[in-house]
Amino acid sequence: MLEILTLGSDVLRKKCATIAEFDKKLEDLAVAMIDAMHDSDGIGLAGPQVGVEKRIFVCHVPDDDPRIFINPDIIGTSEELSPYEEGCLSIPGVYSDVVRPISITIQAWTLAGKPFKMGAEGILARVIQHEIDHLKGVLFLDHLNEKKKQRIIAQYEKNQSKKKK
Ligand code: NI
Repeated sequence: MLEILTLGSDVLRKKCATIAEFDKKLEDLAVAMIDAMHDSDGIGLAGPQVGVEKRIFVCHVPDDDPRIFINPDIIGTSEELSPYEEGCLSIPGVYSDVVRPISITIQAWTLAGKPFKMGAEGILARVIQHEIDHLKGVLFLDHLNEKKKQRIIAQYEKNQSKKKK
């Protein structure tokens, strides 16, 4: 099982590289990422979270199938925004409302190297935006005001030190 890296790992802050090779290795990575996501009861997982500085993420929201996105970009967003409680497998145990557009249009590539466009709304739009942030080294904490961000980090660190005891 792939190890999921947590807050403090440098790779979570890296800007990921575009994927050029659509090969068996990429397919194996995507399958392993879906396994790791399911194993952690997550709904999304991005390359840097498993130490891969490449533009790939997977997601699996309720009432949907697992999805794989290579080199994704948001090409359109709704004007309407909404708050929604987010968490992250790399910052386990803490959650906070994050305000984002409620619907988006994205462009990405399939595992086979085929480009596609799709619209998403609701929880799928939410997860896609969160995961695309990861590919830029951005975490959901970065969307919060500084006070709230520091509070969440303090809570996370408190949880971690409890676990170690
Ligand atoms: Ni995350």
